[in-house]
Amino acid sequence: MAIPVTLSYMDSEGRQHFSPGVSAAKGGVLDIIDQTLLPREQKRLKLETPEAVYEAIKQLRVRGAPAIGCSAAIGLAVCAQRFESSSPQEHLQKIEACAAYLDSSRPTAVNLSWALKRCAAAVTGKDIAEMNQQLLDEALRITSEDIELCRAIGKAGAALLKPGMGVLTHCNAGALATAGMGTALAPIYAAMESGFKVKVYSDETRPLLQGARLTAWELAVSGVDVTTICDSMAAQVMREGKVGIVIVGADRVAANGDTANKIGTYQLAIAAKYHKIPFYVALPFSTIDRTIADGSQIPIEQRNGDEITHCKGAKVYNPAFDVTPRELITGFITERGILTEI
Ligand code: MRU
Repeated sequence: MAIPVTLSYMDSEGRQHFSPGVSAAKGGVLDIIDQTLLPREQKRLKLETPEAVYEAIKQLRVRGAPAIGCSAAIGLAVCAQRFESSSPQEHLQKIEACAAYLDSSRPTAVNLSWALKRCAAAVTGKDIAEMNQQLLDEALRITSEDIELCRAIGKAGAALLKPGMGVLTHCNAGALATAGMGTALAPIYAAMESGFKVKVYSDETRPLLQGARLTAWELAVSGVDVTTICDSMAAQVMREGKVGIVIVGADRVAANGDTANKIGTYQLAIAAKYHKIPFYVALPFSTIDRTIADGSQIPIEQRNGDEITHCKGAKVYNPAFDVTPRELITGFITERGILTEI
């Protein structure tokens, strides 16, 4: 079984598109796989209203920084196709309001606002049809670029791997988190393509289990040797000598290299340092936010307590991300190669 497509622009005839060259005049929808149901059920959703796109991002039906950016961009394009605007000026106002609304769905991954800003800036046309075409072209450009960036990240990162090496990862920064083959998981896929396999340890990733449900599943169906561990087992697995490298994704990297990623990443970096295991962050350059000097300014999403609570009366603290300080990171695996300075 192959990994299903994470997201696409689906035209009115049900064809999936990932690159520019599609007429916006025919209309289409944002097509995603509902990741809240994986791996039990593979259900696709067709989204065409601002509320539906917002809800899908907020509820993690589509998730992972690059996938959120691509989905929001395609979502904005399909919503614009349905606006009933009486003038280009009114249409532009509606596009900008929709972009701001979608941008407010989740705060931490910078790819969301990066992609929406890129789409809004691409709208320079004089009539509504032209504006809609520009939006769709830009959204699909972002999507096709993401596919290429993932490949380049994979190629760069595979150089760090050796046959049979233990690779520990956290959350899901794979194909399900991007339009392509992923970021943190891309080196693993690239290694496989070049003829050798590694052994992956996938943290389960409490509380929403992106590791146990998504990473373990996408690697298993791709033929990768994957072992799920509870988050609390990572240090022990390192002590047992099973881990040669840690590779994680990123939601936002500050100008100094401090990195926000799924909650639990920071403690993993501390454990890796203690055990002298290299700790790499895989990311496209669009995840770097140079407007932010260091990690203390990265907005951290606080999610609903009912994702965790098992007992009425107990308070819940549920930050969805943490920030790993630059000094705990060995290097960055990017489309421009492996970097120690970003
Ligand atoms: O809350 P999520 O599932 O969207 O969090 C995802 C992560 O933290 C990923 O590691 C990150 O977005 C990088 S995805 C290539």
